[in-house]
Amino acid sequence: MFNTPFVFSFALLLSFPLLFLFVPRILPPKHVEISLPDELDDIALFRRATLASLGGGATVSRLGTTNPKPKIAFLFLTNTNLHFAPLWELFFQNNEGLYNIYIHADPSCKITSPGGVFSGRFIAAKKTQRATPTLISAARRLLATALLDDSFNSYFALVSQHCIPLHTFQYMYKTLFVKPSFPMYRSFIEIKSDEPVLWDRYIARGKNVMLPEVPFDRFRMGSQFFVLTRQHALVVIQDKRLWRKFKLRCLNLQSCYPEEHYFPTLLSMEDPDGCTHYSLTRVNWTGSVGGHPHTYRPPEVTPRLIQELRFSNSSYSFMFARKFSPDCLQPLLDMADKVIFSD
Ligand SMILES: *[C@@H]1O[C@H](CO)[C@@H](O)[C@H](O)[C@H]1NC(C)=O
Ligand SMILES: *[C@@H]1O[C@H](CO)[C@@H](O)[C@H](O)[C@H]1NC(C)=O
Repeated sequence: MFNTPFVFSFALLLSFPLLFLFVPRILPPKHVEISLPDELDDIALFRRATLASLGGGATVSRLGTTNPKPKIAFLFLTNTNLHFAPLWELFFQNNEGLYNIYIHADPSCKITSPGGVFSGRFIAAKKTQRATPTLISAARRLLATALLDDSFNSYFALVSQHCIPLHTFQYMYKTLFVKPSFPMYRSFIEIKSDEPVLWDRYIARGKNVMLPEVPFDRFRMGSQFFVLTRQHALVVIQDKRLWRKFKLRCLNLQSCYPEEHYFPTLLSMEDPDGCTHYSLTRVNWTGSVGGHPHTYRPPEVTPRLIQELRFSNSSYSFMFARKFSPDCLQPLLDMADKVIFSD
């Protein structure tokens, strides 16, 4: 017969490997913001989208029909109702076949579909939270879903519920596809390296944690809202190296905003010449409060404002602007035909 201490030590020995197996499941890793099941779902989606894009190419559409026209994928990232849906509806009107809409709506917020062109366009979404890498994941999920859904999606425009269009769809379409000022298509993404807050943002996850993948002199900043080429959308969903660092939890939430750094840093490393380094989305940082830009209210919404917001120092006019409070919808609709969609 075995004596009790022996059985006890044997059991203890046996339980060690089990401990290694189960502890990580019971105690989630402390320093990562995204849960393991969410991460695995995303990895599977990104892999499918990558395989489909690399295999299928852009010559055969999903339904086998031949459609020679490239499309713009509009990626709506939201945690509220889409307040400006009626304005966007006018924007999309009569342009069927030239665009697709995808909506990532935080499932923990009660969001109702505005119907119309937005019907059935909600994608499998997960909870998002400000100043966390969940916003990066949501944007990557939108890119992957759009890549997978339609091989004719050629540009991918990320917008939020606070964004409005500043021109007609046709104006934007012609700008993007008909007269590229460069011999190839580029991504419209802001990439800045001279912002005073850059160091604080860099060390927000702790000193030296971004090394060696992201040395400080390669760390970049830019607006969360971009228009990416299909090639760059693929670069973003295929990335694992930088994501390992950017998914780490921020220790300093006041100086975090990983979504303003991940995309500009990645694309400036992978293909700086393929990016414009400026955004097509106008935002007003004058008098910003708590990391929020100026939010326009109804009395400010005038034809003159729209003209001002379009004006850009680059060779392209701004296509979108943010942020607008939900009650700006009516004043915007009132001047939609005469001002916003007059070109
Ligand atoms: C930007 O916002 C400020 C208020 O914070 C406002 O005075 C200014 O007119 C705005 N600029 C534009 C171009 O709308
Ligand atoms: C254009 O450049 C001028 C001078 O650098 C600057 O003051 C202005 O804010 C810029 N306008 C836009 C829309 O970026």
